Amino acid sequence: MSHDITSANKMAALSDGKEEARYFVRVIEKNDGSCLHMKQCSEGDVGCVVWDAAIVLAKYLETKAFWDPDAGTNLWSGKTVLELGAGTGVVGLMAATLGANVTVTDLEELQHLLHVNIRDNQCLVRHGSIVPKVLKWGEDVTEFLPHPDFILMADCIYYEQSVEPLVKTLRDLAGPDTSVICSYEQRTTGHNAEVEKKFFQLLLQDFQSKEIPLEQQDPEFSSPDIHILHIRLRA
Ligand SMILES: C[S@@+](CC[C@H](N)C(=O)[O-])C[C@H]1O[C@@H](n2cnc3c(N)ncnc32)[C@H](O)[C@@H]1O
Repeated sequence: MSHDITSANKMAALSDGKEEARYFVRVIEKNDGSCLHMKQCSEGDVGCVVWDAAIVLAKYLETKAFWDPDAGTNLWSGKTVLELGAGTGVVGLMAATLGANVTVTDLEELQHLLHVNIRDNQCLVRHGSIVPKVLKWGEDVTEFLPHPDFILMADCIYYEQSVEPLVKTLRDLAGPDTSVICSYEQRTTGHNAEVEKKFFQLLLQDFQSKEIPLEQQDPEFSSPDIHILHIRLRA
């Protein structure tokens, strides 16, 4: 990464009673100078920390392709957005603060953290909205229809058993006008390469995918290891 995300985003222990021992906060500065304060758990599963791919995607949402206050452009304003595997919720929160109407989804066990982070950052959500909901990949998506304008997912391609249900969920949720924006960190450890390969083999049966070059991403929060893709249903 051209910027050291870890040092740029201070980790500070919180001092609100019982939460103190369980949470650390990560600060993500937005282009307008305001800051998202994301609580992460000091113990727990993969979803309870902010992954670098999420920061790269969150900062991409603020690039001029989407949001340019000088030119009066805001592609997020009033758009419906659904985030899959939201974890702490940072990507969805960024979209909501930019004016989108967002549903952040994850497994049941991540709902408390999502609620806490939405509560702590609600003051930055002025024109948009954000709600947390349970969505387990592969399960019924009726309550999330009609098709959203955008589906966002950061660092969700990482274990073999999830690949088929994840692609099914994308297929069920995406309509002809839905843009899926996906970030993932390319890892060489374990079975990651095989998992990625299987994901893209399945995905490309119904979708087309275009990689966003580094120069179109946030200049500070980007990395050759972290890819951003725009994915759409094939015509
Ligand atoms: C590596 S974490 C990424 C979290 C967050 N997007 C980020 O990048 O910081 C993967 C997320 O996918 C969620 N997840 C894993 N399997 C899932 C499933 N079958 N259905 C729904 N969410 C799932 C996890 O709970 C976790 O929050």
